[in-house]
Amino acid sequence: MEDVRLMHEAGVNLVSLAIFSWSRIQPTEDVWDFDWLDRVIGILHDGGVSVNLATATASPPPWLAHANPEMLPVLADGTRLWHGARQHYCPSSPVYRSAARRLVEAMAERYAKHPALAMWHVGNEFGCHVPACYCDISAQAFREWLQRRYGSLEELNRAWGTDFWSQRYSSWEEIIPPRRTPTWPNPTQQLDFMRFSSDALLDCYEIEREVLQRLSPGVPITTNFMSFFKPLDYWKWAEREDVVSNDSYPDPSDPASAMKAAMAGDLMRSLGRGRPWILMEQSTNRVNWREINQVKPPGLMRLWSYQAVARGADGVMFFQWRQSRAGAEKFHSAMVPHGPMSSSPGWREVVQLGAELRRLDGVGNTQCHAEVAILFDWESWWALELPSKPSSALRQMEQIESVYRSLYEANITVDFARPRDDLSAYSLVVAPALYMVTDEGVANIERFVGAGGVLLMTFFSGIVDESEHIRLGGYPKPFQELLGLNVVDFHPLGIGQHVGLRFADGTAARGTTWSEHIELGGAESLATFASGDLAGRPAMTSNGFGSGTAYYLGTRPDGAAMARVLEIVCSRADVASGAETPHGVEAVRRVGKGKSILFLLNHRDVAVEVPIGEAGTNLIDGTEVHRGLLRLEARGVAAIHEGW
Ligand code: GLA
Repeated sequence: MEDVRLMHEAGVNLVSLAIFSWSRIQPTEDVWDFDWLDRVIGILHDGGVSVNLATATASPPPWLAHANPEMLPVLADGTRLWHGARQHYCPSSPVYRSAARRLVEAMAERYAKHPALAMWHVGNEFGCHVPACYCDISAQAFREWLQRRYGSLEELNRAWGTDFWSQRYSSWEEIIPPRRTPTWPNPTQQLDFMRFSSDALLDCYEIEREVLQRLSPGVPITTNFMSFFKPLDYWKWAEREDVVSNDSYPDPSDPASAMKAAMAGDLMRSLGRGRPWILMEQSTNRVNWREINQVKPPGLMRLWSYQAVARGADGVMFFQWRQSRAGAEKFHSAMVPHGPMSSSPGWREVVQLGAELRRLDGVGNTQCHAEVAILFDWESWWALELPSKPSSALRQMEQIESVYRSLYEANITVDFARPRDDLSAYSLVVAPALYMVTDEGVANIERFVGAGGVLLMTFFSGIVDESEHIRLGGYPKPFQELLGLNVVDFHPLGIGQHVGLRFADGTAARGTTWSEHIELGGAESLATFASGDLAGRPAMTSNGFGSGTAYYLGTRPDGAAMARVLEIVCSRADVASGAETPHGVEAVRRVGKGKSILFLLNHRDVAVEVPIGEAGTNLIDGTEVHRGLLRLEARGVAAIHEGW
């Protein structure tokens, strides 16, 4: 009762429930205890609060693991992970899968018709602690997955290139997960194991979804994502969700956090193909799992909550409601803290946010609109970061962030898309280090440019096919005609090493991470290397293709130079900034039928003045906003319904 009263005070209308409750619900194999859960759901319902009900399968009870130790996951080096924490299951374990199915059936049978039920929350953060299992059961499941993928051993041997290092398999039984080996395991084996491991967890999700759709039709289903989480191909996962939801815990001490969280928001909106998503978890204040867990200064939780809304979220939630007294997360912040609420700035901010969000109905049925897409493909990410490359300093996220940052700072909204997705809605497509690409992806990118699109591709793209075999004939073979060039060889740069760059207009800049020997084959050079072995050779090019233009970068220009590159390509694509704002102020628009809401987010810890081009009403406090300058307090926010 006290909780419901506090929830009302905080404006809470949806509660995630029972996420780690399996051992309470099913204390032993044949004993079920739903009384406490009935009571909690009943109290919430009476208080007008809806429930995002978990299937509770994320942490199997000790009795299950004790009776079936073979269901516990195993690492690449053979270490078995025991029960006593959470997520201790092998995703391929038939014991785990059937026990989980039984639990979900029991939950769905009991609560499908409960009026408080608003959504099902399947598992929790799939793969968070155990993204892959290397045990014998997984090995067998991996073999079956490979049989489905390749059909014959001969085809597998071809795809894995097993003649190299005498790895040719003569029977399926010889194939194992890429366990700990003397040196690098076969790269395609590793890549396939990542594909398999993402699919194995997705199968677990699908088992639960099938039960829920059967026993609880019509109730939306979600599972909470973890932003750019490498082990799971969320493109595949999101297709199987009714609502995309995300957990976001940016580090308050990292100056890049605002940009990274914006990027995660754009990813969530893109995964849902533009549908509204939910910020399922964030912390009110400190977390407990970093080396040093810094507090969120006043206003930051509110600011980051609005940032999610600005980028397409229609719901803002938290982990956790009450700060726990026992267990591993008792020093993790919560909406209701350990101490008295009266002295908790966090609680005051929660209450303020809750009251404000109620006034944001106008945001319903609006969404962000992007003219720019960044190509992002999980499989290419996996392949790019396999070992034994020209440079292990080439990391997918860094390459994406370096282009995203320039667009973000120019207030240009970005979607993420797969290389094979329909790109026709975009004016500009950026492909940062798109190392692995399928023939379908190649054809799609060509089609986009041919039809008038503008492409910016960066180095080490189009290098391998989906088996991770080099596409022979000069790099990047599938894009040579599109880009009008040939890359003779890669010249990766050392950590901290720079290479000089000179743009056609004479301005100087620097590149990091990579350089390469580019031979023009029709493209025009827009910038050249200005130092080192490649001095005088092209570093950035452009090439007309069909009615579009394909730009290429053979290095990573640092800071301002990357912004300059993006300016060039955006201007060619007619993509303009969404709003001119002072440094540190993010501007994003959500638009809908006849309405446009401009979110202004001041990420700085001092007040700023933001030029306003179009008058409107700030939905957060109802004030009128006039053309001219709008003052935003430190970490302040405005959500301006433009026009009156
Ligand atoms: C994740 C989990 C939660 C909790 C938080 C802590 O988001 O889903 O159960 O452990 O992390 O930040």
